[in-house]
Parts: sequence; C-alpha cells; structure tokens
Amino acid sequence: MHPAQRLLTLAVAPTPSMFAPVSTPAFAIRELSILVFAIVVAIFVVVAALTVYAIVRYRRRPGDDGREPPQVYGSAQIELAWTVVPFLIVVVLFLTTARYIFAIEGRAPAPGALEVTIVGHQWWWEIRYPGLGIVTANELHVPVSDPARPTPTFLTLQSADVIHSFWIPQLAGKTDVIPGKTNRSWIDPRTPGVYVGQCAEFCGLQHAGMLLRAIVHPQEEFDRWVAAQRTVAADVAAAHAGRDVFISLACINCHAVRGTPANGVFGPDLTHLMSRGTLGAGVAPNSRENLRAWVRDPAALKPGALMPSMQLSGDQLDQLIGYLVTLR
Ligand code: CUA
Repeated sequence: MHPAQRLLTLAVAPTPSMFAPVSTPAFAIRELSILVFAIVVAIFVVVAALTVYAIVRYRRRPGDDGREPPQVYGSAQIELAWTVVPFLIVVVLFLTTARYIFAIEGRAPAPGALEVTIVGHQWWWEIRYPGLGIVTANELHVPVSDPARPTPTFLTLQSADVIHSFWIPQLAGKTDVIPGKTNRSWIDPRTPGVYVGQCAEFCGLQHAGMLLRAIVHPQEEFDRWVAAQRTVAADVAAAHAGRDVFISLACINCHAVRGTPANGVFGPDLTHLMSRGTLGAGVAPNSRENLRAWVRDPAALKPGALMPSMQLSGDQLDQLIGYLVTLR
C-alpha cells in the first residue's frame, strides 16, 4: 500500500479495544481482565441465585398468618464464611495482579533495542528516536516483533506541561505522563497495522483532541520509513546549501527563480523546473539523475548548448541538484 493510502485508512481506524491485543503487555492485561471478570460473574451469579431463591421460597402465600418467621441472631459459621471467602478472593486477585505487574514492568531493555522518547504536550505528542536522529509527532512508527525472536520497542514517557496519559489499548496498558518524572513502558506488536490510542488523563480543553496512532511496520518497511525520515532531513539541508550555491554562481545571470535574486532571462525560467517532463528542450526526461548530468556538462547531452559547464565539485553539484529538485 502506498504510504498516502495508508494514511487515508487511518481516518477509519477501528475503535481501540483492549479485547483485541497484539502486544505482550496487552495480552497480559486481557488475560487478567478475563480472570477478574470470571470471578465477579461467579459472585454475581451466586448472589443473584440466592436472592431469587429467597424471593420465591419465602414469598407471601395464601393462608399466611402475617407473622414473621423465626428470627435467628448470630451464626459464627456464616460470619466466618462470608469473611474468609471474600478475603481469599481478594488475595487471589492481589497476587495474580501483582504477578502480571511485575512481569510487565520487570522487562529490561535488551541492548540495541529500539528506544523512543514520547513527550506529552497540550495537546499533542512529541515523538523522538534518539538513536536514529528522527523527530516526529502524534504517529508512532515501530517495527513488528516476531514472537519467536521478540524485538520490543521501549518507550520513555515525559511531559512538557501537565499530566497526560499514554494509552494505545491494543499495545499496552496506559502509563501516566508526569511533569518532572520519567516513566517507562514497552510494546512488542506481533501484527503490522494501525492501532489508535488516546490521552487517558484529563489535561485541559483539548484532552479529547489528543489522539495517537501507532503504525506497526514489517521490519523492511520500518527500515524504509527510517531511511525516508532521515533522507528528508538530509534533503532539506542539501536544498538550503544548494540554494546558496545557486545564488552564488553565475546561474542567476541566465535563469530566473521567482522569489529569489535569480532573475536572468537568457535561459529558461526555473521556478517550476520539476513540473516539466523533459530537460534541454526535450533531449532527456527530467529526472534527478539526468538533471545532475545536464548541470555537470550540458554539452554532453546537447552538443553546442549555450549553457556552460560550471565545473562544480561533486558536493556542490549534489547540493545544487538537491535545491533544483525542490522547484516544483
Ligand atoms: Cu493530554 Cu489528556
């Protein structure tokens, strides 16, 4: 799927459900929830059954004389039973929950694991990949993790202002994001896809407008995303440097790029250079590679062309092309 198409599908991403986990902490939370739910359902059924039994068994019948039945005060056995049984239920719930919490929180980052720093702001998420030099926002990209050889992503959670809470229900439990404190979480999504989340702590006017998306890629696709994120940054830097090269050279005596000091009219206007299909009046398709060859030595493509070779170094040429390809 083309990345733009993928983004379109984000708008119709399903409602987040903790009952459709794809990551170890979320699986654990679902397991625990089902256990707790089963216990409370059992309690409900017992209580409701006894209530219904008492209502039916001791209802008013024709011929009742209106007097109360024999009243029983105090029963050590019953008192003991309804104290000990709930206590045991609470002990079971406590121990199971503690086991799950320690299993999730005790996971130490493996060396070389992907680390992401997420900073809550009013009302958006800053997302940083310190090891990769990538900075983005609101959409967390991570690689899928093979359950046979898990590669979890570790999250460092911080706040720039007030308390927020990071929650993508299908990936992990919510973790508060607290000013002055660093919290940690981790995810190891097993299925590629888009998983939606939400700030889960009231943080002001736009709390409800503080949404999150995690995009889980197959490893190669994630590597391409990383490369693209880094290339874009490099391209912007090259384009800035390239603009300086362009302005400093004789290019501007012959070519115009409207909005810059370049206002020459001897050669073609370059303001929307990349919107044209060909170079040198049709001698070559207008691609990055051909453009580079053209600028290096126009006569090689079009003998006798009046545009001179500017004798640029490889670096200058790269920077210049980096700028020219932005002219759309
Ligand atoms: Cu941020 Cu609610």
